[in-house]
Amino acid sequence: MKRPGTNKRPLRLFSGPLLLVGAGKMGQAMLDGWLARGLTPKKIAVVDPQPAKTVKALARRGLALNPKKLPSAAAIVIAVKPQTAPDAVPPLAAAVGKGALVVSIMAGRTLAFLEGKLPKGTAIVRAMPNTPAAIGRGITVAVANGRVSAKQRKLASDLLAAIGTVEWVADESLMDAVTAVSGSGPAYVFLLAEAMTQAGVAAGLPPALAAKLARETVAGSGELLHRSALDAATLRQNVTSPGGTTAAALEVLTGPGGLDALLTKAVAAATRRGRALAG
Ligand SMILES: NC(=O)c1ccc[n+]([C@@H]2O[C@H](COP(=O)([O-])OP(=O)(O)OC[C@H]3O[C@@H](n4cnc5c(N)ncnc54)[C@H](OP(=O)(O)O)[C@@H]3O)[C@@H](O)[C@H]2O)c1
Repeated sequence: MKRPGTNKRPLRLFSGPLLLVGAGKMGQAMLDGWLARGLTPKKIAVVDPQPAKTVKALARRGLALNPKKLPSAAAIVIAVKPQTAPDAVPPLAAAVGKGALVVSIMAGRTLAFLEGKLPKGTAIVRAMPNTPAAIGRGITVAVANGRVSAKQRKLASDLLAAIGTVEWVADESLMDAVTAVSGSGPAYVFLLAEAMTQAGVAAGLPPALAAKLARETVAGSGELLHRSALDAATLRQNVTSPGGTTAAALEVLTGPGGLDALLTKAVAAATRRGRALAG
């Protein structure tokens, strides 16, 4: 059974203006998603020192690119690098319109940091997406400050849904663990593909074939997991016959010091690092 999809066009009714600050990899992915969901470029303003050609092309369709005076925005999405934040965020105070929502996707930049740089009482959502956002298949976890209304929360969900699935947490301290699991997670999966390639070569396969088998196995299994209503454990059990080849491998992978233990240690290390870097 296929899992239910998301509403693809919820933004047509958003009246804007929407201000995007930072149109790099993530900013552009969101921009593409918003346009695909029916938001007109006329309702969008973008601030970026060196906008890509595709963003410049949108200016010809009515998008306001690097306007001299920032619009009084209904929503502001901050997608600059965290280290740029001390310079990029304070000028945005001028663009926070009445009842405006600010959504930040900057890794490690806390609600307290943003509250300190924006007008008192601003509704702010801190969100953590991940790399598959580039193909609209990310997962983003969001947390709201006490000023975000139910309507603004829905708007934040709609804006973030442009790059994939959205989940909410109530406790901001969980964001370090979220970053360690889904934010950094794509790197773990790519490492799995690398390790499977090396293991295939060690087992005698030509390197190009080993790389192709690993890549397609990781990608195909990810797609199956995405489309299936079954959970990962059930899908794993479904390909594991007792006494068979998969069982022999899983005995090694789940044994003492195996994958479960390693990943628990890895996620704990990433969580600690996130906590140390947050600000
Ligand atoms: N990429 C990911 O997988 C990922 C995952 C989770 C979270 N995030 C978060 O998403 C945010 C964006 O990441 P990214 O990968 O999209 O970075 P990126 O490609 O470097 O994009 C950032 C953009 O902001 C622009 N910029 C720099 N200073 C600015 C300013 N003062 N005002 C407006 N724009 C400015 C940059 O221009 P220049 O290049 O000319 O400096 C660049 O186009 C980061 O905070 C990151 O923590 C990213």
